[in-house]
Amino acid sequence: MSEKILVCVAWPYANGSLHTGQIVGAYLPADIFARYHRARGNSVLMVSGSDQHGTPVTVRAEAEGLSPEKVAARFHQEFLEAWQRLGITFDLFTTTGTEHHARATHDIFLRLLERGHIYKDTMLLPYCPQDKRFLPDRYIEGTCPHCDYDGARGDQCDNCGRTLNAPDLLSPRCKICGATPEWREEEHFFLRLSAFNDKLKEWVSPQTHWRKAVLNWTMGILNEGLQDRAITRDINWGVPIPLEGYDSKRIYVWFEAVIGYLSASQEWAERSGKPEHWREYWLDPSTRSYYFIGKDNIPFHTLIWPAMLMGYSEGDEKYNLPYDVPANQFQTVHGSKASTSRRLAVWVSDFLSRYDPDALRYYLSVNMPETSDADFSWGDFVRRNNDELVATWGNLVNRVLSFTYRNFDRVVPTPGEMTAADSALLSRAEQAIAEAGENIGLCRFRAGLESAMAVAREANRYVEENAPWHLIKEDRERCATVLYTAIGVISGLKIALYPYLPFSCQQLHAYLGSEGPVDAAGWRLVIPQAGQPLAEPKPLFKKLDPAIVEEEEARLGQ
Ligand code: MF3
Ligand code: ZN
Repeated sequence: MSEKILVCVAWPYANGSLHTGQIVGAYLPADIFARYHRARGNSVLMVSGSDQHGTPVTVRAEAEGLSPEKVAARFHQEFLEAWQRLGITFDLFTTTGTEHHARATHDIFLRLLERGHIYKDTMLLPYCPQDKRFLPDRYIEGTCPHCDYDGARGDQCDNCGRTLNAPDLLSPRCKICGATPEWREEEHFFLRLSAFNDKLKEWVSPQTHWRKAVLNWTMGILNEGLQDRAITRDINWGVPIPLEGYDSKRIYVWFEAVIGYLSASQEWAERSGKPEHWREYWLDPSTRSYYFIGKDNIPFHTLIWPAMLMGYSEGDEKYNLPYDVPANQFQTVHGSKASTSRRLAVWVSDFLSRYDPDALRYYLSVNMPETSDADFSWGDFVRRNNDELVATWGNLVNRVLSFTYRNFDRVVPTPGEMTAADSALLSRAEQAIAEAGENIGLCRFRAGLESAMAVAREANRYVEENAPWHLIKEDRERCATVLYTAIGVISGLKIALYPYLPFSCQQLHAYLGSEGPVDAAGWRLVIPQAGQPLAEPKPLFKKLDPAIVEEEEARLGQ
């Protein structure tokens, strides 16, 4: 039976170019997951967009002397190009700057206000006497009261992941000039998170299918007890407050960005000519929604957004809460935390100017930080590309297809009688599809790829042992059977690997003489028929010269 799957992916701040840490953290796992479900025939809606408000964008705009609109528009364009080149298949990648989004945000804000889940109060806010301005979020830094980390920001600590209110910071200082801020009383709106603590606990504790790190962290915070949070700010870049008298304030970027999942689904439905279609993904309780994010985003997706949805739901119009939040850990670069300021990051567009997208997708997938941080190193990238992608999978395809093409009239050979070993290998191909699918469905992406690669290694051994290059002279019929079997396995692995390596699997699909999209026949083994014409194969992947390691390392940190 066909299922409905909502794939929500973190909205990248439109304040900088994408690096591989973001891709491996959220976009690639989401895309693998979406491609798998579409191939199985499930209905998938995958949405995200540029997160263009708040201080992340104004800080960058001020540094460049540009308007925040300009900065956001430039990076939004960059993101769209990156998805195209990396094969990240969004149904809609919009921005938080649309009318649609503002309307949805206002609707939620007003309903929560009306029900008392949002209330007005005063709070102490940091004001820099030097710069003569309020210091929201990224304009103030200090020591985290929970973990002692010294670079905590006004709204979150990057070290322990907790959300903060600016007055919590110890030794606070202005990020612009370093001065100690004064505290001024201001009126703001607050989300009554404390009132959702018990309901959230009740909902979170049975989610045993969540990743341990996500579940434990979330339960830890709920056991400490949630505090109410200000959801408006003294800035002029953001979604306006839908009430008279608050012109100098805007809605807090995190409060509105998470609403993007819903507003983007509505925008998608409207654009596709079925304006009510989003309801199937949000209100039908059989739909499962998955949120692909990095670990620093956990509190917003397992606590704040669910609380907002609980408060917004009315009568039997219940909005689906996240089914799973498979947050990834971080990617380090050559052993260090990626850093934009020290240029210690691998930029997507720079990477793709020299290497292929599937080479990147492969490396990021085998090395995905699912349960602990994972390191990107150029030496490791080259080794895995050459020894695994090229030597194991690429060579298997290349030698089987080119040998067949040359010796069997450019068609799939007609097999003779199959031996037990032949049939065993073909069932391994079926198993690879089943296991890869099961693992992907459970968001175990490394394991899914490994199930397919293990069968690729077995297939290589099979080809070695049967040596068709000898058989062709001695026993042409046996040779045909071996090649037919090998082509069968390759066809199976083409499916199992497709979510990870979509470009090369589509290419392979064409070499096998098949037309249309590679996933059209579904998540199952289809062996090309004997006699089916093959297209002339070329190597699917490029072997890399180990000399590039040094070149690339020299580029890092420049
Ligand atoms: N812009 C945030 C970040 O890059 C992620 C926002 S995700 C959403 O960390 F939930 F707000 F949509
Ligand atoms: Zn902390």
